[in-house]
Amino acid sequence: MVRRVVCQQWAEPELLEVVEEERRPLGADQVRVAVEAAGVNFVDALFVAGTYQIKVPPPFTPGSELAGTVTEVGTDVHGIAVGDRVISSLGLGAWSDEVIIPAAGSTPVPEGLGTAVAAALVQSYCTAWFTLTRRTRVEPGEVVLVLGAAGGVGLAAIDVARALGATVIAAASTPAKLADATRQGATATIAYTDEDLKTRARELGGGGVDVVVDPVGGPHTEAALRALRQGGRLAVIGFAAGPIPTLPANQVLLNNRTVVGVDWGAWAMQHPDEQRALLDEVLAEVVAGRLHPPEPQRRPLDEAGTVLRELLDRKVRGKVVLVPGPASDGSR
Ligand SMILES: NC(=O)c1ccc[n+]([C@@H]2O[C@H](COP(=O)([O-])OP(=O)(O)OC[C@H]3O[C@@H](n4cnc5c(N)ncnc54)[C@H](OP(=O)(O)O)[C@@H]3O)[C@@H](O)[C@H]2O)c1
Repeated sequence: MVRRVVCQQWAEPELLEVVEEERRPLGADQVRVAVEAAGVNFVDALFVAGTYQIKVPPPFTPGSELAGTVTEVGTDVHGIAVGDRVISSLGLGAWSDEVIIPAAGSTPVPEGLGTAVAAALVQSYCTAWFTLTRRTRVEPGEVVLVLGAAGGVGLAAIDVARALGATVIAAASTPAKLADATRQGATATIAYTDEDLKTRARELGGGGVDVVVDPVGGPHTEAALRALRQGGRLAVIGFAAGPIPTLPANQVLLNNRTVVGVDWGAWAMQHPDEQRALLDEVLAEVVAGRLHPPEPQRRPLDEAGTVLRELLDRKVRGKVVLVPGPASDGSR
């Protein structure tokens, strides 16, 4: 039997259910993967609420990233064998104890990389790497301000910016989150719920910052835009705070600033070869010890709804992975 989380209706996370069903047969170009950990991301909450830009009609299983072990390969599959450890970024369906995915959609887990870390890094790290190496290019010595710095994208952005030679200022809501950001490599912090973001960012950046990484939105976006120095870039990644900000165009004109949109998910779907290359770059940096994805918190698959609620309530620090338990028929 397969156990999976199901969103039966667009609703609050508490209404997610866990169901058991028969295994499905495998297609010729597919692999069956026993999921060992599946990442939780803010976008999962948006899918469940039906508020994401892509609306998936229920019922569906949320979860966009996982790591696990191949248990069966289709007849046309070459280069992947039973027992291989793989990562997959699949958009939906990861919150299950088993998935069937196209063989082409799996990537080997590099030797030495832990399963939970592997399961949780694709979305956050690819977004951060795409932002800071493709949508803009962070140069050594630049100052990068990261908002929501202890979230999934935030911690990844600190790590990536630091690896590219930048100095990082982290902004977050609590001392514990700011401490996480410092551990990840930020050299200065701003408690943006108490301190004036624009003023502090200008002070700490020696007059301004070069790049803002913004996965939060709300009122912080304009304050961060105003903190950009000459030639500064604001990367708009997401709106975890809720309201989509409206920005005064004169603040873009001043100092020759640039506002850069980041839509990694859509880009990755439209450019699978480039995405594969991007993920390879990220994994190579991890293996070389230049990127340090943090160890996620492990929670049982059955707690998916509770974890999503905690994410929406800003109680989560870093990333969480959902870990499936044994199947009721004893098959795992
Ligand atoms: N454009 C893309 O390609 C792309 C890719 C990945 C993710 N995203 C988007 O980026 C955003 C962050 O994703 P994530 O997975 O990093 O999320 P996350 O781990 O939950 O981090 C989001 C951070 O936002 C801050 N926040 C401020 N107000 C909040 C509120 N009302 N509710 C929840 N969080 C709030 C929190 O930090 P503080 O408490 O410190 O403020 C939190 O740590 C989401 O909007 C997601 O959809 C976009």
